[in-house]
Amino acid sequence: MKFDNIINTRASIKRYSSKKPPIEKVLQAVESATHAPSPGNLHLLKYIIIDNVDTIYEISEACQQEFIKKAPFLVIVCSDSQQAKTMYDERAKTYIKQHAGASIENFLLKITEMKLASCWVGAFSDTTIKRILNIPGNIEIEAVLPVAYQLKTESKKQKPKIQLDRAFFFHKYGEKFKTPLKRVRRTDL
Ligand SMILES: Cc1cc2nc3c(=O)[nH]c(=O)nc-3n(C[C@H](O)[C@H](O)[C@H](O)COP(=O)(O)O)c2cc1C
Repeated sequence: MKFDNIINTRASIKRYSSKKPPIEKVLQAVESATHAPSPGNLHLLKYIIIDNVDTIYEISEACQQEFIKKAPFLVIVCSDSQQAKTMYDERAKTYIKQHAGASIENFLLKITEMKLASCWVGAFSDTTIKRILNIPGNIEIEAVLPVAYQLKTESKKQKPKIQLDRAFFFHKYGEKFKTPLKRVRRTDL
């Protein structure tokens, strides 16, 4: 699939076929997630892959989101902020969230490229999922990512996105394009 096509077709899909994707595909998506930028190239995220039906049921309850029950796989993204705290102090929390977001997006784009379905799930009971998966108290849960094939009968299109000219400013916050951008020459520097 071409890159633009992947970007333009990625969507949160919540209706899943019962056919189980091969574990290799889930691992490929996890590998893509690990290629995201990270603060100081620290590897602060871990991915818990789950295919146990009972555990998936319990996690779906912890998210209070029915569609998760139908997923043959879940990937739970966890972060360990300790190392980042030592290096980045009060910036660490923000950096980890940004790193997790970049990794999750890589994951979702790879899922799209492999013609699989997923949805970024951020609403859940941390305490309950930590208990179910033996996640230590100092580790944070960043997201729950189902992995499945999309239900065949469903053809999900991407939701409308913001119009490009409403998404940016030129030069300063709030400024729309008025004058041409000044070309910076080497001699100006
Ligand atoms: C941080 C974050 C948390 C989200 N949490 C949930 C969630 O708990 N449940 C859900 O169904 N979708 C969740 N979503 C998916 C968004 O609802 C979805 O991305 C948005 O509606 C845009 O649709 P699209 O992904 O199809 O483009 C979350 C997305 C983000 C970025």
